[in-house]
Amino acid sequence: MDEAWAPLESAQTTTLSELFDSEPDRLERLTVDESGILFDFSKTHLGRSQLDGFIRLAETAGLKERRDALFAGEAVNPTEERAAEHTAERGEGAAESVARARRFHARMRTLIDAMEADAFGSIRHILHVGIGGSALGPKLLVDALGREAGRYDTAIVSNVDGAALEEAIRRFDPHATLLVIASKTFTTTETMLNAGSALSWMDEHGVVDPYGRVVALTASPDKAIEFGVDETRILPFSDTVGGRYSLWSSIGFPAALALGWDAFESLLEGAAAMDRHFRLAPLARNAPVLAAFVDRYYANIRKVESRAVFAYDERLRLLPDYLQQLEMESNGKSVRLDGSPAGRATSPIVWGGVGTDAQHAVFQLLHQGTHLVPVEFIASVEPGHSLAPDHHRQLLANAFGQGAALMSGRRSDDPHRDYPGDRPSTTILLDRLDPRTLGALLAFYEHRVFANAALLGINPFDQFGVELGKAMAKALDADSGSIDFDSSTRALIARAFGASGE
Ligand code: F6P
Repeated sequence: MDEAWAPLESAQTTTLSELFDSEPDRLERLTVDESGILFDFSKTHLGRSQLDGFIRLAETAGLKERRDALFAGEAVNPTEERAAEHTAERGEGAAESVARARRFHARMRTLIDAMEADAFGSIRHILHVGIGGSALGPKLLVDALGREAGRYDTAIVSNVDGAALEEAIRRFDPHATLLVIASKTFTTTETMLNAGSALSWMDEHGVVDPYGRVVALTASPDKAIEFGVDETRILPFSDTVGGRYSLWSSIGFPAALALGWDAFESLLEGAAAMDRHFRLAPLARNAPVLAAFVDRYYANIRKVESRAVFAYDERLRLLPDYLQQLEMESNGKSVRLDGSPAGRATSPIVWGGVGTDAQHAVFQLLHQGTHLVPVEFIASVEPGHSLAPDHHRQLLANAFGQGAALMSGRRSDDPHRDYPGDRPSTTILLDRLDPRTLGALLAFYEHRVFANAALLGINPFDQFGVELGKAMAKALDADSGSIDFDSSTRALIARAFGASGE
């Protein structure tokens, strides 16, 4: 595979304006219009020769074979000896996995119908406790799509800091609250503690049967039963669906509740359309693959360490958080599938915010700072509000204007007022933000992560890096005296817990 990198690594750097001048078909070649989304990669340094080089790299790295193995339900996650079957949740994958996902979805739908028929008494509040992939996806969906459609007042609590749970329950009526416990493993300490405290809150406020107000979303139903959840209130999903890929499964329950079942189905259909695009489109016209080529170009050829994502749409303000987990937990690795060193940079640091706010905070560095940061603009042609059109026109003018300014710059003899330009950006323009399009957008990001992993030869589906810190915190919490911590940690323990560590 290293031989395929060599020509890419030794190629001359061409500026964006030279690329536009020398490649008249650039815009056409580097834009993909798929599932109501326009992906424009033309303002990146991906020249024709790089594109050819990356296609050769993809072939050498077996990207197509790995993609086929993903959709066939093969064990593409060898360190955990299992498949990664999030696409089966939206109907694209091995037949038996798709059938199982449909069965699980049917259970979810039945429960939603029962709730609507008041089977749980009158529920007005949904208190969802979960963390990481068991929170970020549903939170994004409810925030992006549920603002007006929101039929329940929903709080998604993740942090173990009691302030988070307290804030949510302060505004909720315990007698009108459904507690949703979301955890793939049903062992995550934050979630278990938050769930226990929420149950105590209900109990203290005289709810007769708090466990009767619980729904569990999990791939470990036995553990949920052990915890005390009624078997009929468990919505399972397959353990081949990774946490950060799980919003399509029963982990999406609060979103399906808040938005309604039809909207949830549209979300799945949108994702399935993107799955088919990823599976069938030629590499040079494949949006997730092109995005991965761009990612690799900056990370490995230009040695750039981060990528910034700015949602020029208030409804997508949680997208950067969601992408941080998806991309950094998936591809923040240092070894290849066979355990050998990755040998080159893997996931960039993903960060971002919302436009136009970010322009007045961090864009100075993007235009004139010493770091090269590829920027991603995400916007929607249709506005998400009913105020005067000026708002949306200005919003889009800013998104497009920033991309143009980063690329072309403006030279000045005054070094303080000099904009060097040649700074890359990608624009992702949605026709409208609806469930179907959001489904397609999120599936695009998942496949982009997968394509990056294939080019690097790494496993995007495990996350052993988070385990050591978890184990240390657990041991410290249980008995801080039993571990031989360093002197700095010992001093912190003494300061916070007292000299005895209690
Ligand atoms: O901390 C890492 C992690 O394992 C994530 O991958 C996962 O999304 C999160 O914890 C929550 O795990 P669970 O759904 O099992 O509670």
